[in-house]
Amino acid sequence: MKNIVSMNDLSNEEVYKLINRSLELKNGSDILKRDDLFVANLFFENSTRTKHSFEVAEQKMKLNLINFETTTSSINKGESLYDTCKTLEMIGCSILVIRHQEREYYKNLTNLNIPIVSGGDGSGEHPSQCLLDLMTIYERFNKIEGLKIAIVGDIKNSRVARSNFNILTRLGADVKFVSPDVFKDISLGEVVNFDTVINDIDICMLLRVQHERHDGEIVFDKDEYHINYGLTQERYRKLKDSAIVMHPAPVNRGVEIADSLVESDKSVIFEQMKNGMYMRQAILEKIIKDNNL
Ligand code: CP
Repeated sequence: MKNIVSMNDLSNEEVYKLINRSLELKNGSDILKRDDLFVANLFFENSTRTKHSFEVAEQKMKLNLINFETTTSSINKGESLYDTCKTLEMIGCSILVIRHQEREYYKNLTNLNIPIVSGGDGSGEHPSQCLLDLMTIYERFNKIEGLKIAIVGDIKNSRVARSNFNILTRLGADVKFVSPDVFKDISLGEVVNFDTVINDIDICMLLRVQHERHDGEIVFDKDEYHINYGLTQERYRKLKDSAIVMHPAPVNRGVEIADSLVESDKSVIFEQMKNGMYMRQAILEKIIKDNNL
C-alpha cells in the first residue's frame, strides 16, 4: 500500500508534484471524481480544519463518506484500531484518513490492504498540514530552497514542527527554532533567540502551545510567554516587508500571536486553511492513482 503517514513517505519530487497539483486545483483545474469509492475519516483527537477540509475535498471528489464516529464506534467496546480498520477494509472502504493520539499508530496497521492518510499521530507528524504549509510558502515565494524560516513555540509536542523541519530542510530551506527550554527538542535543530532572527526571516511559523499534551506538569504564564516568544506588534514591525506569518491553528490569540495580528497583512493563517482543502484533494487524488483504486 502507498500511504501518506509521514513526510518520509514522499520524495522531494513527489512533494513538488503535490504542491503544483494543489495550486492547479486552486486555479480551477478539474479534480478526479470517483463515486464508486468509499472513504472513512477516523478522528480520535479533536479537529476542525483537518477533518472538515478532508470532508469537503472528499465530497467535491464525489467519494462516498462513511459516517464513522469514534464516540459511537465499537472502539468503545474495546475493539482495537487494527480490527476497526480491517473491518472497514472488509466492508468495502477504499481509503482511511486517521488522526490518532498515539505516536506512529500506523506501525500497527501494516497488515491492512487499504491505504492510510494520516491526519496526525500524537506528537509525531502531520503530513497533510505540512504539505498545505509548503503549498502556501511556494504560492507566495515561488521557491522553498534558500528561504529563512523560524519555527516558534512548543516544538517538543508539535507534529507540525517535526514534519516541517524534515521536509523544509530536505528542500534546502534554512530552518531555526525559537522555543523556551520546556518546549525545546534538541534532537531537531538549532534554537535561537527570537529577537536576533526576527528582522532576517522570510517566514515566521508560529506553533500552538499544546496544553493537552503537557499532563499538567508545566507551569505556564501566557502573558510571559507572549512577551518572550509571541509575535507582538513590536516584533511584527521588525519583519521584512516580504515576510509572512504562519500558524497551523487553532490559535491561542494573545499567546502565540497578538490578537490584532491574526488577520494582519503579513498573516497567511486563514489562507493556509483555504489551501488545506486543495492540498487534501491533491493528496487523495495521488492515493487513488498510486494504489490503482
Ligand atoms: N491545524 C490543525 O490540524 O487543525 P485541526 O486540529 O483543527 O485539524
